[in-house]
Amino acid sequence: MKAWLLDDFRGLEALRFADEVATPNPKGGEVLVRIAVAGLNPADRYLSEKLYPARPPFPHVLGRDGSGIVEATGEGVKNFKPGDKVALLRGDAGVERWGSLAEFVSVPAEVVVPVPEGWTMEEAAAAPLVYLTAWQALTQWEPLEAGAPVVISGISGGVGLASLHLCKAMGLSVAGLTRSEKKGAELVDNHGLDVAFNPGSATLKKQIRDFAGRRGVALYIDNVAGPLFNVVIETLGKDGRVSCVGRLAGEVPDFNTARLFFKRIRIGGVSAGDYSSSAAHAAWDHIVEYMTAFGKRPVIDSVHPFTELLAAFEQLREGPLGKVLVRVGDV
Ligand SMILES: NC(=O)c1ccc[n+]([C@@H]2O[C@H](COP(=O)([O-])OP(=O)(O)OC[C@H]3O[C@@H](n4cnc5c(N)ncnc54)[C@H](OP(=O)(O)O)[C@@H]3O)[C@@H](O)[C@H]2O)c1
Repeated sequence: MKAWLLDDFRGLEALRFADEVATPNPKGGEVLVRIAVAGLNPADRYLSEKLYPARPPFPHVLGRDGSGIVEATGEGVKNFKPGDKVALLRGDAGVERWGSLAEFVSVPAEVVVPVPEGWTMEEAAAAPLVYLTAWQALTQWEPLEAGAPVVISGISGGVGLASLHLCKAMGLSVAGLTRSEKKGAELVDNHGLDVAFNPGSATLKKQIRDFAGRRGVALYIDNVAGPLFNVVIETLGKDGRVSCVGRLAGEVPDFNTARLFFKRIRIGGVSAGDYSSSAAHAAWDHIVEYMTAFGKRPVIDSVHPFTELLAAFEQLREGPLGKVLVRVGDV
């Protein structure tokens, strides 16, 4: 099979395209999936640069998200059969075992789900990791009251847009932070965002306070961290919560814990990889229900040819609007 192989931790530039890699055999309990579309995530790059906890044996195949067709099943697999359309939900694929940046991947049957009815292969490959992450960021706290103001940084990215969809389906008000005026306008016009702010604006704190009103911000979903964190935290209301998802802008400098005291602010880490298989399936069922009821589908920024993987990763690094995908095979 064709696959992108990672031979060491020198980063994405060390990836090499190989066209005579042995196709895996599904072991007992596994399904062999012929990949149609793979979804890229910043964590792929982190892993390739040794900035992620996983230390898989080399050569390794990256790729945590993907959709395709079941090619074969291992002994004991009852819930899938060859020809079924599936997506990888969560698990070790692309982390400790070979992932979706290959024509075939073999994974335990418990980590795949049927492609939701009416979704394309692209949409199915665009959703699992970012929607599970967004789901945890939203549901790790007590439910918010209808209309509660939420702020999301990195709103134009995979997790940001997934969080926006789920927030709107739950009846929450959302202010999104994006460095791009164009993307902000697009998100307001076409994706249900209530208001977009530039995180670099000198008046950001006031803009967020005006949006949130007297109640203050109820929840901050943070994909970015960096100095912005200290600005947004000052806009939180009483019992405000922060779900820390990513840190694309680096560390938070000079964080003062006194900012948490009087409003009883709580900060919680998010780890989609921490979901057990059954919890991930339960969350996924809710996500698909919400998306169906809300009439929304995952947003796709771009689909790149399999051979142009590095250009696809570059698009992801530059700041997409939705998910960056690669088409692996014509299935
Ligand atoms: N904890 C978990 O379980 C988990 C799971 C999935 C992802 N993550 C992490 O969450 C973060 C977001 O993931 P994602 O898939 O949504 O990423 P993404 O698709 O690359 O989008 C992130 C968005 O953040 C903005 N951004 C990028 N670099 C930035 C920078 N240096 N400073 C400020 N804004 C920046 C960009 O928006 P604009 O260009 O519009 O500003 C970009 O569209 C990543 O760090 C990822 O590793 C964590």
